[in-house]
Amino acid sequence: MAQLTEATTDPEKARLERIAELTDPATIRYLETIGVKEGWTCAEVGAGAGSIARWLSNRVGHFGKVHAIDIDPGMMDGITAPNLEVRDQDISETPLDEGTYDLVHCKILLMHLADRERVIGEFARALKPGGYLLVEEADIRSIQRVDPPSPLLTRAAAALETFFYFGGADPGYGMKLLPAVRRTGLKVLGTDCQLTAVQAGTPEIATISMSLAKLAPMIVTAGLMGQKEIEAAFDQLEQPSDTVIYTPTTVSVWAQRSDA
Ligand SMILES: C[S@@+](CC[C@H](N)C(=O)[O-])C[C@H]1O[C@@H](n2cnc3c(N)ncnc32)[C@H](O)[C@@H]1O
Repeated sequence: MAQLTEATTDPEKARLERIAELTDPATIRYLETIGVKEGWTCAEVGAGAGSIARWLSNRVGHFGKVHAIDIDPGMMDGITAPNLEVRDQDISETPLDEGTYDLVHCKILLMHLADRERVIGEFARALKPGGYLLVEEADIRSIQRVDPPSPLLTRAAAALETFFYFGGADPGYGMKLLPAVRRTGLKVLGTDCQLTAVQAGTPEIATISMSLAKLAPMIVTAGLMGQKEIEAAFDQLEQPSDTVIYTPTTVSVWAQRSDA
């Protein structure tokens, strides 16, 4: 099974930190492009382990504010600042206040929500005039590409994708994001996507093996793969070899409330 490469006792926190390590450099580039400024009020929704909330808190300074929102805020333990408020909030139940934010950001959140179309509309309405929305969502179908071809790993990737659908998530939501942002009425300013190739047996493979580890028991229970098959897939991911697999593709769209 997946080995944690860091001395952390919480596998979910370690998984979130890996996702952040992989995806934050691009997020920060987009935030720089938007031009986040001192004094801004920002919402970081589905904040995970809190790395982007911390970046925003440093950037907006003493006169700014960051609301770091998550249904599992314990993952942000240890991230504190006078301008940073960690909120235990289910964004599907309690929307952001309207007309409040200079920036709303979320990453790998909406794809998990059954009511994603409503929530993205609420994000748009939560912006002040001239405020910015940066939404980043994954398309996990890219992880089915393996070289050299491995029917076992491709099968594990397909099982992950199917499992997402079972839970009401959309594993391909990244590709639907651009029209979804346009439907909010915001003006789309830019879009980009990130895809990384990771090699078996290297620390970077953990972004994939940790997600598979999280869902493996449920994949087996659902009959999508057998226990032995899943274990063989982990071995193939974790043994050093020339096998290369793509990460999920992260699609990012940034947009502005244009009645500035
Ligand atoms: C895949 S993680 C991504 C974390 C972070 N955005 C990142 O990219 O590193 C999704 C996060 O969204 C949170 N989340 C899921 N559903 C939520 C909801 N309905 N309201 C608020 N947060 C939610 C989860 O607890 C988790 O921390």
